[in-house]
Amino acid sequence: MGRVFSGVQPTGNLHLGNYLGAIKNFVSLQNDHECIYCVVDMHAITVKQDPKILKNNILEVAAAFVASGINPDKSVIFVQSQVSAHAELAWIFNCVARLGWLNRMTQFKEKAGKNRENASAGLYTYPVLMAADILAYHATHVPVGDDQRQHLELARDIAQKFNNDFQVEYFPVTEPVIMGNATRVMSLRDGKNKMSKSDMSDYSRLNLTDSADDISNKIRKAKTDPLPLPDLSCLDNEDRFNEDIIINRPEAVNLLNIYSALSNENTKTVVSKFSEKQFSFFKNELNQLSVETLSPITREMRKLLDDRSFLEEILNKGRDKANSIAEPILKEAKEIVGFY
Ligand code: TYM
Repeated sequence: MGRVFSGVQPTGNLHLGNYLGAIKNFVSLQNDHECIYCVVDMHAITVKQDPKILKNNILEVAAAFVASGINPDKSVIFVQSQVSAHAELAWIFNCVARLGWLNRMTQFKEKAGKNRENASAGLYTYPVLMAADILAYHATHVPVGDDQRQHLELARDIAQKFNNDFQVEYFPVTEPVIMGNATRVMSLRDGKNKMSKSDMSDYSRLNLTDSADDISNKIRKAKTDPLPLPDLSCLDNEDRFNEDIIINRPEAVNLLNIYSALSNENTKTVVSKFSEKQFSFFKNELNQLSVETLSPITREMRKLLDDRSFLEEILNKGRDKANSIAEPILKEAKEIVGFY
C-alpha cells in the first residue's frame, strides 16, 4: 500500500474540474491508502494574492475537502506553509533540477504569458516546490487532473537525479494517478479550453459554491452544437471517444464526459443512453445530476465555513501529523546532501 499525496491551490473558484479531476478521487483513495491532502498556499502566492482573500480561500479548500467526503480521521488535511519541510526541501531540489527542465514546462509559459520577464521567480520554480511537496512524504501515488502530468514527470526526474547525484535510493519515483472520465474537464463556453479558476466568464465553470439555480443557468447556457447527441459510432475500439468527435464536437464530448464522471457510468453506457437525443433533453438530465451531486457538498461547505473552529482543529491536527512524517525525511535528505 503506497502513500498518496496531492494538493489544491487556494486561489478561489473551486470548480467541477477540481472536484471530478482530483477531489473525488482523493475521497475514493482514502479507503485503501494512507492519504495526505494539502492546501498549497505557497503555490498560490506565485501569482499576486490579496492576503485577506487568501486566508478565506485556504479555509474554503479545507471545507471542500471535508464536504466532499475526505475523512479527517483517516486522511491528513493540512496547509502547506505550516510545514516548513516543503520550503526547505524545495531549496535542495532547486539545486537538483536543471534550468533546461524548467524551461520546458508548458504551464509556466501559459501562466506567464507574453510578459515573462515580469513573472515571479516562484512561478518559474513552482514545479520544484511540487516535487518537494510529494517527496517530503515519500509519497508514491499522486492523484491529479491531466494538466499536472508534466509537473509529475519533473518530480520523477528530480527524485531520480537526487538519487543518482548522491548515489542513494532515497526518494521514490512517484506514479501519477490520473483516473476517471473527467481528467480534463473543459469550459462550458468553449469545449477546446480547460475549465479553469481564472476564466473571466463565470459561465465557463460550475463552482463548488454555486446555488442550484446557478448550476441550472450555466448548464442551460452551456455551448453545444446543432446536431443531436452522437450514437455509438463516436467511440473507438476501446469505447473511448474517437479523434473525429473530439475535434469536431468538443462540447458534446465534454458534457457527456461530465455526465459519465458524475454518474459513475462508463462512456459507452452514457453514449447509448443519450444516443440521438436532443441536447435540451440531455441538459435537463445533466442539470439534475449536477445539482444532486454538488448541492450537498455546497451545503456542507457553507456549514463548515460558518463554524471555522472545527476546520481549524482539523488543520492543526493535520499540520502536526504532516510534520511528524516530513521532518525525519527532510532530516535524512539534509544528511545525504552533507549539511552539518
Ligand atoms: P490546482 O489547484 O490548479 O488544481 C487542483 C486539482 O484539480 C485538477 N484540475 C482539473 N482536473 C480536471 N479538469 C480540469 N479542468 C481541472 N482543473 C484543475 C488539477 O489537475 C489538480 O489535480 N499544482 C497543483 C497543486 C499542487 C499539487 C502538488 C498537486 C501543488 N503541489 C503536489 C499534486 C501534488 C495545482 O495547481 O492544482
